[in-house]
Amino acid sequence: MASTSVRHHTMFIGGEDVDSGSAYEIRHPATDELVCTMAKGTVADADRAVASAREAFESGVWSGKSPAERQEIMQRIAARIGTDQDEFIAAEISCNGATVRQAAGFHVGMAGVHFDYFAQLAGSYEFERTIETDPVPTASTNTIRREPVGVCAAIVPWNFPLILGTWKIGPALAAGNSVVVKVDEKTPLSLLKLAHVAHEEGVPAGVFNLVSGDGPEVGARLASHPDVDKVAFTGSTAVGREIMRLASGTVKKVTLELGGKGPSIILDDADLDFAVDGVIFGCMLFSGQMCESGTRLLVPAELHDDIVARLVARVADLNVGDPNELATDLGPVISRRQRDRILAYIDGARAEGATIACGGGIPEGEEFQRGHWIAPTIITDITNDMPIAREEVFGPVLSVLSYSSLDEAVAIANDTEYGLSAGVWSRDTDRAAEVGRRLRAGTTWVNTWHAVDPRLPFGGYKQSGLGREIGLGALDEYTEAKHLHVDHTTDLGLATFALVLSTPRHG
Ligand code: NAI
Ligand code: MG
Repeated sequence: MASTSVRHHTMFIGGEDVDSGSAYEIRHPATDELVCTMAKGTVADADRAVASAREAFESGVWSGKSPAERQEIMQRIAARIGTDQDEFIAAEISCNGATVRQAAGFHVGMAGVHFDYFAQLAGSYEFERTIETDPVPTASTNTIRREPVGVCAAIVPWNFPLILGTWKIGPALAAGNSVVVKVDEKTPLSLLKLAHVAHEEGVPAGVFNLVSGDGPEVGARLASHPDVDKVAFTGSTAVGREIMRLASGTVKKVTLELGGKGPSIILDDADLDFAVDGVIFGCMLFSGQMCESGTRLLVPAELHDDIVARLVARVADLNVGDPNELATDLGPVISRRQRDRILAYIDGARAEGATIACGGGIPEGEEFQRGHWIAPTIITDITNDMPIAREEVFGPVLSVLSYSSLDEAVAIANDTEYGLSAGVWSRDTDRAAEVGRRLRAGTTWVNTWHAVDPRLPFGGYKQSGLGREIGLGALDEYTEAKHLHVDHTTDLGLATFALVLSTPRHG
């Protein structure tokens, strides 16, 4: 433990800072330096947070506010993500090692915009709608109401805590729910700051709670808790399956945003300078620690060697180093465990006969002896059945495969248990879009990557997930649809009751 004293952070439950009996250290992924200590939550803390969320929900302090009132408070929170951005950026970088450019533009900048979008949805969402119906068998007025589900648990990973938290907290609050957020063990600070900001801007106590602690303990408790109505999770497919199983006990609503193995297809007519830079952006941003990264590159066989040479040359231009430096392109990976996992995938590919075209290990240099680093890596001579082509590596590692016909490219692209993202590179956007229609993935880009807009849905086919986050329908996942039927029949003789009561009334 470093001798300098660092700040200790607590959980936020029922509008109060709540400490726990034990604390743990958070260390900077780039340097191993002690960032802070954090209260380690327990099952009892999860239970307390759920009870607090339930009480707030039932009281109507938030669920009973008008959508316009919720919108106004939420827009103030969104604005604070902007005015307090330095603190949010520092919170993200110090815990997950995002580079300062990416943290400003993506981790925090996008979170502010997306939070504001959910605030606007509170105002524009059709919470109640009356539908014209047939006057047979009886005349009636029929209303569809979208009512908040109740208590929502949000289990969030370490790569984009503020954005992925916002994708769950935003629609939950907009629809009038209460929330319990379970932060990832490694990255509590940005969402903790958001919880405080929300409270300061008028979200009542108990509506937005934040707990910490181990996933299999505290996260699992939330996923199975009888008083939680919905669980939203982003993380690994393995844990996603477990959450679905735990949630089944009380038939909770579930949304899952899980792993990916995004295929990135270069067509034979692509502008190779453009495509090569785009492929590197698609794979290497945030050192490949993004669920929708393009990690499997499919190239025409006749262009393979040319494209690989261009990729290797361009990857050599990447500045790997201190994430706080503006000139840095790639920072560290999140943890020793993840680093070793990535190294094991690279070693496994090497053992199976793949070629490491560049990178392949820890970068050389004194500054990479501390923290967790992987040199940007390109691997060739791969077949689509190898683990490196099938499993989510979650590091700066691009796998290159060749194809000999467009049908084969589409078949390889779709030969995966995942279906989160895909992309196509071509000078002919119509032709590329045609290929895009054949790819089984929730987001399919042509000539770009990582373009995520809050108005458009995000989520996975196959084992990449369940349901969709963001998009025009984002609040559907956080509401129950109620059909309210008011019958206008007053004449007993005309009522449908005669279907069972066929004999006339006597007396
Ligand atoms: P993880 O899936 O174990 O952790 C994500 C969240 O789930 C954390 O908040 C964790 O505390 C919680 N959690 C863990 N076990 C749980 C359980 N049994 N019940 C309830 N909650 C639980 O991910 P991890 O270990 O950080 O990374 C492993 C791999 O997962 C990565 O290599 C990557 O492939 C994938 N991953 C995908 C992400 C995505 O954006 N889709 C984000 C993070 C990881
Ligand atoms: Mg885990």
